[in-house]
Amino acid sequence: MIDNEQMNLLFKEAQKIALKAYAPYSKFRVGAALLCEDGTVITGVNVENRSFGLTTCAERNSICTAVAQGHLRFKALAVSTPDSVDPTGPCGACRQVISEFMPPDAPVRFAGSGEKQVNSTVGELYPLDSLHQLRN
Ligand code: THU
Repeated sequence: MIDNEQMNLLFKEAQKIALKAYAPYSKFRVGAALLCEDGTVITGVNVENRSFGLTTCAERNSICTAVAQGHLRFKALAVSTPDSVDPTGPCGACRQVISEFMPPDAPVRFAGSGEKQVNSTVGELYPLDSLHQLRN
């Protein structure tokens, strides 16, 4: 079980890394922090491109970095969007990728610069998930 204190720490990492986002086009910075099964925290930011469709989201970038470092299971995810007051959740593509590596009961927290934060789960964000049998 991940307690609130751990989620607070994870979210702080997401807030810190969000300042490194490369978002000159949208001016919408996103930071993601993943808690790996062994306790390692891996972070990522959105990286935009002048060919807009090539932009990659913070959540997927954090997952790609983690996988390249040998981490395949994640216990929790925090996402910070400092340029919006209200929380902004992971996009649809990220939800699919998140569901590859995180169980439905894994906690996901996201918040903007305001007080409001959303404490959800992978299963809540991506219900009726399918196709995991292809990995067997
Ligand atoms: N973005 C993310 O990094 N994660 C999301 O889940 C939502 C969108 C980025 C993509 C783009 O650089 C900017 O936020 C605005 O869409």
